Amino acid sequence: MEFQNYINGKWVEGKNKFQTINPATEELLAEIAQAENSDVDAAVGAATEAFKAWRLTPAPIRGELLFKIGDILKRKKEELARLLTQDMGKVISEARGDVQEAIDMAYFMGGEGRRLLGYTAPVEMPNKFGMAVRDPAGVVGLITPWNFPVAVPSWKIFPALVAGNTVIWKPSPETPAISAAFVKVFEEAGVPAGVFNLILAPGVDVAKALVNHPGVRVLSFTGSTATGRAIGEAAARLNKKVSLEMGGKNAIIVLDDANVELVTDATLWAAFGTSGQRCTAASRLIVQKGIAGKVKESLADRTKKLRLGDGLDPKVDVGPVINKSALERIHNYVQIGQKEGARALTGASVADVNGKGFFYSPTLFDGVEPGSTLEAEEIFGPVLSIIEVDSLEEAIEVNNRSQYGLSTSIFTQDVNRAFTAMRDIFSGLVYINHGTTGAEIQFPFGGVRGTGNGHREAGQAALEVFTEWKSIYVDYSGKLQRAQIDNREEEVQKIKPLVE
Ligand code: UN1
Repeated sequence: MEFQNYINGKWVEGKNKFQTINPATEELLAEIAQAENSDVDAAVGAATEAFKAWRLTPAPIRGELLFKIGDILKRKKEELARLLTQDMGKVISEARGDVQEAIDMAYFMGGEGRRLLGYTAPVEMPNKFGMAVRDPAGVVGLITPWNFPVAVPSWKIFPALVAGNTVIWKPSPETPAISAAFVKVFEEAGVPAGVFNLILAPGVDVAKALVNHPGVRVLSFTGSTATGRAIGEAAARLNKKVSLEMGGKNAIIVLDDANVELVTDATLWAAFGTSGQRCTAASRLIVQKGIAGKVKESLADRTKKLRLGDGLDPKVDVGPVINKSALERIHNYVQIGQKEGARALTGASVADVNGKGFFYSPTLFDGVEPGSTLEAEEIFGPVLSIIEVDSLEEAIEVNNRSQYGLSTSIFTQDVNRAFTAMRDIFSGLVYINHGTTGAEIQFPFGGVRGTGNGHREAGQAALEVFTEWKSIYVDYSGKLQRAQIDNREEEVQKIKPLVE
């Protein structure tokens, strides 16, 4: 297979190529045309030109294009899901879910074409009207990760487009094949040339060129904390709008009255689904002492039964991690955990699956101390740290002192304790009796503290970063009325009804 960059409505070759391999088999999946900095200039130029007409295209018509994209995604769901599994490794049922999230977002944001709600409010003067409308921000640069190569980009691309922006998308170089296949859907739907552009390149040069380009007004990034901070700094220097979605150290809190079987099902799914490579993945289990023994036994038993392998095999529970360096990073963390005195109940080693691929055995760590490396740092792999606590209050305190604050869940059957947790957990997402993953696209998505910079994706909140508010005052009095200065009481006395 071969894929190119998509600039100004054309597939563009590069001077050089790079490769993407299947992490389950280590076989070559596709050769990719490598974009240069000059391609970023060309894409920004095309997007700037296309913005002139796209911003004037009525929003309901922009929305209809999104509906069409949703329809094509539905038709191609299986084909895209299979390519997604081959490109990044997640099991096929999860790959289908990844594409489904984009379908859902296409229809949700398509509907925004007939909303994009602004508002009117009363004004101080007679014969004057006030309203606030959303303007598109301009050319936007989107930088997205490999772990949700279709869903996460769709959270950015669809709101950006429906609001009237033009887009340059730079996906992770780990998943260029599925990214280009996704762009083909936009081409098939008839997105006008220059409105949506794709830049594929390894390394940081091309991403930097996009971030620093003076023609790009908004940046939206999902990925590692270190990269996100660097983008935030660059954006601040250049006065760009920027939305950052970064690390997580998500916790499942289990109280004494929880249903152990439900906790086990939910924890396995949240901790080891996508091989732990979700920003929402559970990586801490904060369990009350009274139930800890039963929960650990049940979890260890079921974790050992998880089947590792190629995600295209429907019997496989856990696929590979993304690449060799991820495997090394995960194992390094496991060794640090062991040195710090945590005890591995399962896993703690690279797994051999037919001698190929990047597999890590799902790992449960018991006796993880608050403040230790395992407890504090995002590992982004199939490693769950168990921390025992005495009370709900202590559990919430352990949750809230993390440097990150994306997703937290709590298992209890006590409505009073559930509501206390909803009030006092400081995270962007809170789940009751459900794991930390599975956010739906109609609600705001994002986190507090080190996870983000205050923006949210998904839901209508997604529109904020991609639009600028414009407040409009219409004075139809035919004379100068000076706000804050004219005598309003006198003016009001002069009002004559048109109809008696
Ligand atoms: C991510 O890992 O970056 O809530 C996104 C979830 C998914 C999205 C995860 N709907 O787990």
